[in-house]
Amino acid sequence: MCGIIGIASNKPVSINIINSLKKLEYRGYDSAGLATLTEGDINEKKCSGRVEELEKILFKTPSNGNIGIGHVRWATHGVPNIINAHPHSSEEVSVVHNGIVENSDEIKKDLESKGLKFKSQTDTEVITLLITEALKESEPLESVFKTLQKLKGSFALGIIFKNFSNIIIGARRGSPLAVGYAKKENYIGSDSYALKSMTNKISYLDDGELCVLTKDQVSFYDEKLKKINKKIHIMSENNSAIEKGEYKHFMLKEIYEQPETIKNCIGEYVDSLKKKINIINFPIEPNNINKIILIGCGTAYNSCLTAKYWFEELTTIDVEIDIASEFRYRNLKFNSKNLYIFVSQSGETADTAAALDICKKNNVKTCSIVNVIESTIARNSDWVLPIHAGTEIGVASTKAFLGQLTVLYILCLKLAIVRKDIDERTYEKNISSLKKLPEAIKESINTESNVQLMAKEFLKAKGSMFLGRGSSFPIALEGALKLKELSYLHAEGYPAGEMKHGPLALIEEGLPVIIIAPKDKYFEKTLSNMQEVMARGGKILFITDNYKELVNENIRFGLRVPRLDKLLSPILLTIPLQLLSYHVALLKNCDVDKPRNLAKSVTVE
Ligand code: F6R
Repeated sequence: MCGIIGIASNKPVSINIINSLKKLEYRGYDSAGLATLTEGDINEKKCSGRVEELEKILFKTPSNGNIGIGHVRWATHGVPNIINAHPHSSEEVSVVHNGIVENSDEIKKDLESKGLKFKSQTDTEVITLLITEALKESEPLESVFKTLQKLKGSFALGIIFKNFSNIIIGARRGSPLAVGYAKKENYIGSDSYALKSMTNKISYLDDGELCVLTKDQVSFYDEKLKKINKKIHIMSENNSAIEKGEYKHFMLKEIYEQPETIKNCIGEYVDSLKKKINIINFPIEPNNINKIILIGCGTAYNSCLTAKYWFEELTTIDVEIDIASEFRYRNLKFNSKNLYIFVSQSGETADTAAALDICKKNNVKTCSIVNVIESTIARNSDWVLPIHAGTEIGVASTKAFLGQLTVLYILCLKLAIVRKDIDERTYEKNISSLKKLPEAIKESINTESNVQLMAKEFLKAKGSMFLGRGSSFPIALEGALKLKELSYLHAEGYPAGEMKHGPLALIEEGLPVIIIAPKDKYFEKTLSNMQEVMARGGKILFITDNYKELVNENIRFGLRVPRLDKLLSPILLTIPLQLLSYHVALLKNCDVDKPRNLAKSVTVE
């Protein structure tokens, strides 16, 4: 879960490397580094902390060189410090690496027994030393190829060579690697976003492939080192998602973009005149689907859980959900009549991608719901339903979550009507409500000033609890996840009815407890659970869409979101929770867009 960049040019590259690293910081931000070839030597600069620090170092001591590689790190092997920061260089070669070399300990022991010395605690340094050894008898491409044969794991690499000063070699196994083309300049990068300001012409390496870049050309090789051609994709020019504009943080901007992104998403799937959902090409004929299995991680998993309630309400299809990191190791019984749906913003999450691979090996039909349509998960699945949310930069997922929910809801409606699980009237009524969703999201965002007041209740808290029932339960989980990742405050998400089976013991005087209670069949039950919390001193913060009753004077704080249709309430109830985590994090001076220890795209297991 690191970011890598490489540039071969006819002019100095260090400034463009820094600019690309800033864009890659969402992948890791605990240390950074670059290496260029300057006057025939490898010139390495590294820092712990952010790319800004690296920029300061370069400002004092500039790095020349028309060829270079750079890296932002999210530590796996070895603490985040300068020594463990990438690139890892020998006299001959310098390497940046994203991913994990699983057999690094074994290789390290072997190399040490031959007298080689290691400087860092990383798994990457074995790659550097293996290539250095191979270079004694082979050319660079063959040396990298021989090295790859010895490595286990999943990774992407960028490599420069002291004595072959016009080339960069890139290699991909598991972790993504894009290649970009421009005039007298070519690039490798962990994603196309990092290259976007330099080029809109992109190719993607597939698993096992390598590339050799010079400033004038790029050559590609397959896993047997046979030369191959790659397709060039032209990316759209829209860069607005990449700038913060008037907003203080990407996260806030992305929350405020939601009416627009959801409108786009609905526009992509719903025919505005005929009130019909135009989803076609199901990989399994809808009437023959036996079961749907929804798989994701973190926030994406929470969207799967929400969708389970929708599928159960609207269709006769049996639905299971699974956390990708569990799914991939379970002893599962696959069934060709089941549809396996993978939900992922980035489309690169290692666990989700591995779970998808297992499905493919078992010859079952797969669908992915992704934001990044060029991603590994999208490319590897039989059927792709994009969420059309635009680039999401804030590490905490907001607009992508709402996009995932919207696509899952649309898919659910479509399956329900095709299978005749609902009648035309219900179908059309639900589509009408769906079309009003962007406006209702806008109104829900208008709760921000009240949410700001609510956020103050968390300043002195030791922990917090989020409770909901039915489809509000996954929203409670999502609210708790957002709060803990952004403000580092312990937060538990629970089904409200489950409290008395243990968690009630956590309630003490003043503990903030967020009750998510839309007017649905659970409303009264949720109120009873709230009373149990209140009786034990919990400080109740109540979020509802019920305009008639905002119930009890003992509620410390109440918030209302608009009401559209009970099925859509999870989407509208999510928004104040996104804003709450944002404002608590601001009050606590936390880095909202880059919370500690996390990264946007989790490409390691
Ligand atoms: C939390 C968050 C993460 C991601 C998870 C999966 O705000 O963003 O929990 O949802 O890492 O990532 P994707 O959706 O890219 O597979």
